[in-house]
Amino acid sequence: MAPTNRFVVLKFGGTSVATAARWRAIHEISQARRRDGFQVVIVVSALSGVTNLLQAIIDATGASVRQQALTDIRSKHEQLLDSLGLAMPESVVRQLAELAALVEQASDLSAKLDWQARLMAQGELLSSQLGVALFRHWQTEADWLDSRQVLQAIDEENQSDWGRWLSVNCQCQRQPIWNQRLLAEASTHIAPGFMARNADGQTVILGRGGSDTSAAYLGAVLGAERVEIWTDVAGMFSADPRQVPEARLLGELDFEEAQEITTTGAKVLHPRSIGPVRETDTPLWIKDTNRPDLAGTVICAKTKERAPSIKAISQRKGVVLVSMETLGMWNQVGFLADVFAAFKQHGLSVDLIGSAETNVTVSLDPSENLVNSNVLEALCTDLAKVCRVKVIGPCAAITLVGRGMRAMLSRLSAVFGEVGSRRVHLISQSSNDLNLTFVVDESEAVGLLGNLHQALVHAGVMRVDDMAVFGPSWSSLYRSEHSAPTPWWQTEQAALLDVAAGRSPRYVYHADTIRERAQALRAISSVDRWFYAQKANDHASVLKLIAEAGLDIECVSPGELAQAQAAAPKAARLYTPNFASADELRAACTQATELSVDAVQALQFAPDAYAGRRILLRLDLGVGRGHHDKVRTGGARSKFGIALNDLPAALQAAQAAGAIVYGLHAHLGSGILDLGHFREVYAHLASLAERIPSVAVLNIGGGLGVPYWPDERPLDLAALAATLAEVKAAYPQFELWMEPGRFLVAEAGVLLTRVTQIKHKQGVQFVGVDAGMHVLARPALYEAYHGIWNLSKAGQPADTLVTVVGQICESGDVLGRDRRIAAPEVGDVLLLSHAGAYGAVMASQYNRRPAADEVML
Ligand code: LLP
Repeated sequence: MAPTNRFVVLKFGGTSVATAARWRAIHEISQARRRDGFQVVIVVSALSGVTNLLQAIIDATGASVRQQALTDIRSKHEQLLDSLGLAMPESVVRQLAELAALVEQASDLSAKLDWQARLMAQGELLSSQLGVALFRHWQTEADWLDSRQVLQAIDEENQSDWGRWLSVNCQCQRQPIWNQRLLAEASTHIAPGFMARNADGQTVILGRGGSDTSAAYLGAVLGAERVEIWTDVAGMFSADPRQVPEARLLGELDFEEAQEITTTGAKVLHPRSIGPVRETDTPLWIKDTNRPDLAGTVICAKTKERAPSIKAISQRKGVVLVSMETLGMWNQVGFLADVFAAFKQHGLSVDLIGSAETNVTVSLDPSENLVNSNVLEALCTDLAKVCRVKVIGPCAAITLVGRGMRAMLSRLSAVFGEVGSRRVHLISQSSNDLNLTFVVDESEAVGLLGNLHQALVHAGVMRVDDMAVFGPSWSSLYRSEHSAPTPWWQTEQAALLDVAAGRSPRYVYHADTIRERAQALRAISSVDRWFYAQKANDHASVLKLIAEAGLDIECVSPGELAQAQAAAPKAARLYTPNFASADELRAACTQATELSVDAVQALQFAPDAYAGRRILLRLDLGVGRGHHDKVRTGGARSKFGIALNDLPAALQAAQAAGAIVYGLHAHLGSGILDLGHFREVYAHLASLAERIPSVAVLNIGGGLGVPYWPDERPLDLAALAATLAEVKAAYPQFELWMEPGRFLVAEAGVLLTRVTQIKHKQGVQFVGVDAGMHVLARPALYEAYHGIWNLSKAGQPADTLVTVVGQICESGDVLGRDRRIAAPEVGDVLLLSHAGAYGAVMASQYNRRPAADEVML
């Protein structure tokens, strides 16, 4: 292949160069880039473990330790070559000799920083020489490139001696002369990472993350088309995957976001490597050496148009806070200057700052500071001259990163709730609108990252549904987990388009899905009776199907009782009214098989309705649960149920009315995916029931949730069965009833609606449809998420960012904001998923727009 002026820099880290197999992968990847027409420069780290051995040589006090480290380094390289049956190449022999000579000087020079820099450089010098030999062995032209010739360190003000030798920054201007020199050799170049030269031509070190940074500098100097950082994960994730396996691969980030994420804790890329590529606008890719097929993360200046979203949540540990308190601070000129001068004097760089009238608190990040107790003590002594000082630590700093953070604050209540339950020392939000950081005690941070990640997804502020930004989860990439089954509506596209041709908007229900759900529930043997909460969907064909599957029906009004009677006459009816009038109760109780009473007053003002009947008392167990505040039906603010302290009065009223308290009932909310809830309610009711001899039944309500968001996990029914069975074993005397609605029908229903107009307004593409909040109220009412799919363009990439709205005269008439669908046109049919529960039943005639009709498939 003729040389071209297109350069790519590939960087491989310590584990990626540690075995022959890994070097083969490097060889293949670089050959693939050459086939694509690139001039390739490879930057390598030292073989894994070697840098630590070199540090041990510096730190060692005795010659034997140094000799051992030297032997270990040599044998690491030998073993690699042995595994290929190769003798040690001359270049590596020479390099090892140089290393041995340096080690010889250790007793005299080990305190000297220039010697340390030369010694630390040996790992990369060895690995790069070894790489050239291997490439040549595989018949690929390769040349060694001394990165010290290309990269020159810059002298900086305030630089410590240590920094001048062991943690330098380099110039990153484009230098076309290097392109010409490398092109003249026309081969693949392999360069040592981690090092540069100073103005006197001596070897200096880039410091931690040095090889990433070398690659970025080389990319900048060469004007490379891109820099690729090859590592052992697919890229940057929305959280540290070791703590949050469901963290998502970030497909694309801009430089600023990437800088924030790396600086605040992500380990995959060193934060210093972003500066050079950002300055020269060079895209940087992160790729997995073991899985080159994976797209990885692309970091670049201009990203695709996308939904505002929190991209990542990261955590730094070992953070120390210094809290400074003074009454004299108010209006006092120069206080902060004095304080910060002390930090500067002790070589401590300040990270976060929070201030109040009489207090300033700052954080010191261990990655930037040599925070040891001596330094801190000395600092505190100085600070004590101007204020009262308190050191708080170790702390953890948790940071949310995403562009447009401020606009998302209103939706972070779950996050504030989760963090607020711990001791928060400091909250900081910078004016670049990219991050929000909480500092808590390190001991309080355990498990926090996972909970917050989940809360962000549920609150709709981490938009994992936006495939242009969020790739697959770490667990789906690296753990063999079976993926979710294809939803029915994706395989019924033709039938659905036929249905949509008849009328629009239209709800369509899938009988097989409802049947399958009913069977799955009935297989849970510890539940003795199932009542379907018909408020979720009372279409006659749905009720009929569910009754045929052996479920009874829960009704809340005379209208529902009549509907159940007509559609499923054989099913028993449980009547669960709320604030019904005495007249309604008298009439409706005669239509029901089972009665639930949720107010003492009902028994008092309509005792005749209950005389001689067996009843369940609906209790408020003091907490509400569910997917949104508006669906939580327990606790002091909720209008439902009998408070526990009114239970004796309710028992008395029941007795006075001549009713038999046959059961206890609690339904605390809707859309619950946490199994612990059902166990708690069951156990709580059972413990109460033990004291009421007439009670034979416990009804633990509905509330079984379904995953609306792409990332939510479905309820594990087997685990639910096990949990219920466990409680049942403790209280075998009670019959168990449940009354789910959503679980049976939500995923069985879709809403089909036609595009009426498309309007581009100030950067937003509004797609109008003939459904709206009058047809599907859930998004407007609960900010509920329903997946949206362009059915007419199935098979085309879902790459257009749109906001789907209805025709109602309300700004809240939005069915989905910032969604990615296949490019829509007027007349296309859009499908909203998960619309089988609380869809058609909640429709209104607002604006005199017609309701959707309903069809069973
Ligand atoms: N039992 C009682 C007494 C209820 O009030 C409800 C629902 C259920 C059972 C059934 O709950 P499910 O299994 O469907 O979660 N419109 C809201 C849901 C309101 C639920 C009202 N009560 C939504 O669209 O999310």
